[in-house]
Amino acid sequence: MVTAYDATFARMLDEGGADVLLVGDSLGMVVQGQETTLPVTLDEMLYHCRAVARGSKRAHLVGDMPFMSYQVSPEEAVRSAGRFLAEGGMHAVKLEGGAAMAPTIRRIVAAGIPVMGHVGLTPQSVHAMGGFKVQGKREEDAQRVLEDARAVAEAGAYAIVLEGIPSELASHITAELPIATIGIGAGPHCDGQVLVCYDLLGLTAERVPRFVKQYEHFYQNGLTAIARFKHEVQEGVFPSAEQSFGTIPERATPAAAGGLQASGTPDGSEPVRG
Ligand code: KIV
Repeated sequence: MVTAYDATFARMLDEGGADVLLVGDSLGMVVQGQETTLPVTLDEMLYHCRAVARGSKRAHLVGDMPFMSYQVSPEEAVRSAGRFLAEGGMHAVKLEGGAAMAPTIRRIVAAGIPVMGHVGLTPQSVHAMGGFKVQGKREEDAQRVLEDARAVAEAGAYAIVLEGIPSELASHITAELPIATIGIGAGPHCDGQVLVCYDLLGLTAERVPRFVKQYEHFYQNGLTAIARFKHEVQEGVFPSAEQSFGTIPERATPAAAGGLQASGTPDGSEPVRG
């Protein structure tokens, strides 16, 4: 599973073989430049979901329910979740929280909407956790994470994200739960793994967290590309004739041009793209 926020990335990640595209509320940080995911709204999430749905053909699509779109009441949660499917083109929703969220998960599932859970380090509770900290390191905290995961599974979730917990705990939960676990900063023993696509592709300027592996260096490559573009514009190298449009000589006819218009289109106009 990887995150996606727009149609172009969705197309690339889908074609590249990602099984699940998560439109994560992490877009608040990597797309909007916010410090946390808390300011992201439901309408903003739906905007990105629609873009991802247009770009992807094959992957299972999961929409992340943003802060305060499901915490107030199960009724509101069902309504918000429904919008992800009806308006956002998603196949399922993800929400954060354990035992306290079980009744809400049950209601959303009963409405016919598949739910992916999310326990351990839950970024929407950043202030309650005192920061983005690994959870479940102490025995009693590990027990709480385990009980949260059990509650989410019992409430009917079909999969669960385990974020920022020790590997042994994630391994224990994976062995015990009948549903798929998807880890991020939770070690190698989960059923699947998820990364934020900007982290995976090396698209972030900042240092990445320890649990991230960068498979590419898009940010660095982008800097090089921009510098080359600027240099070529300043030196008059770009655009060359190859990237420029010509005019059709006034008396030229298709016959005179050997049966071909200047661009091959019926009216002689050149397609600008494609
Ligand atoms: O918002 C997000 O991208 C997530 C994943 C990192 C699991 O919740």
